[in-house]
Amino acid sequence: MSNVLLIHSSVFGEKSQSLGLARDFLKRYRHRSLVERALAPHTMPHLDGETFAAMGTDAADLDGRQKEAVALSDELIAELEVADTIVLAVPMYNFSIPSTLKAWIDHVARRGRTFRYTEKGPEGLLRNKKVFVLVARGGVYSKGTPHAAFDFQEPYLRTVLGFLGMTDVTFVHFEGLAMGPEAANANRSKALAHVERLTGGAVAEAAD
Ligand SMILES: Cc1cc2nc3c(=O)[nH]c(=O)nc-3n(C[C@H](O)[C@H](O)[C@H](O)COP(=O)(O)O)c2cc1C
Repeated sequence: MSNVLLIHSSVFGEKSQSLGLARDFLKRYRHRSLVERALAPHTMPHLDGETFAAMGTDAADLDGRQKEAVALSDELIAELEVADTIVLAVPMYNFSIPSTLKAWIDHVARRGRTFRYTEKGPEGLLRNKKVFVLVARGGVYSKGTPHAAFDFQEPYLRTVLGFLGMTDVTFVHFEGLAMGPEAANANRSKALAHVERLTGGAVAEAAD
């Protein structure tokens, strides 16, 4: 039974399609505990120079101000470390991910904590985790479709998650939301069918 970390990043809050799909997924996915991290502009600041410098300093050498600067990065990494399943609800914004999710990545990609460089190259330190990414998009970008090359969301996330050690990554696509109600409904059914295949329709246990 897994400990789940749910991260969502839509500007639409509870009306978000990607979050709605993630909640549908979690209703069926058996889990022991659930931690939820909502990424909003006021809770997920951009990385600044002071924070980046503190992230690269040994904990023992940090002064009070630096400890404060690095506290959010520490907290976000701790959430990742204890989770064995990560569920990302990700809208497509301008062909890529929301800037709040990019800021979250900038805070958790930390040398010596979540990755390191070896003689053989970089090595991710967040291993043995399952990641499910539920994406919502106005258009259609799946493999084999005319606009597949415009998808900078899935290739980027696969690359950066893999860099941090998370290679067991499954995407569920909810696409065509802006292409009329018929297409949206058909694609919602497709996405839900995928969720059911992934979860085996299992009934979720109550979260802690
Ligand atoms: C700022 C913004 C940028 C968007 N950019 C794109 C885009 O590049 N391609 C696309 O297909 N849809 C785009 N959309 C549509 C969203 O992907 C769509 O509304 C989706 O439902 C968002 O997921 P959410 O409901 O979880 O926020 C954009 C929406 C917003 C608000």
